[in-house]
Amino acid sequence: MKDWSREQLIAKALEARQRAYAPYSNYKVGAALLGKSGRVYTGCNVENAVYPLCTCAERTAVVKAVSEGEREFVALAVATENGGSPCGSCRQTLREFGEDIVVLVAHANGLYRETTVAQLLPESFSAQDLMTGGC
Ligand code: THU
Repeated sequence: MKDWSREQLIAKALEARQRAYAPYSNYKVGAALLGKSGRVYTGCNVENAVYPLCTCAERTAVVKAVSEGEREFVALAVATENGGSPCGSCRQTLREFGEDIVVLVAHANGLYRETTVAQLLPESFSAQDLMTGGC
């Protein structure tokens, strides 16, 4: 996946944001995750009257992708009203599948900043830490 469009991925995240189910926070989030196969998996936040059960847009997208058989990713676009950054849980969920994943953090107006999972979650814990034989 050398040729991919940041603008197109963001457009898909903005589209997914329209499907957000966020009646409690009213903070709508959309995500679009580009797999190495070229397929894009979208996600939105899905809230619940039992607040801790709320699911973030990014994790919706990751779960959709992995359950469809894709485990390697190029980039994730996340769109919110104000350019909010992915939460800690979503950073760790993305980290499971790689540090080099590009993350595009977009505003509702399409403006965005670019970062990576490694930048968002430095010195992270990963599967490798489980394979050191312990202390
Ligand atoms: N939210 C996301 O979807 N992604 C994030 O990275 C941060 C927060 C959602 C969860 C909840 O539905 C709403 O935004 C307010 O926290």
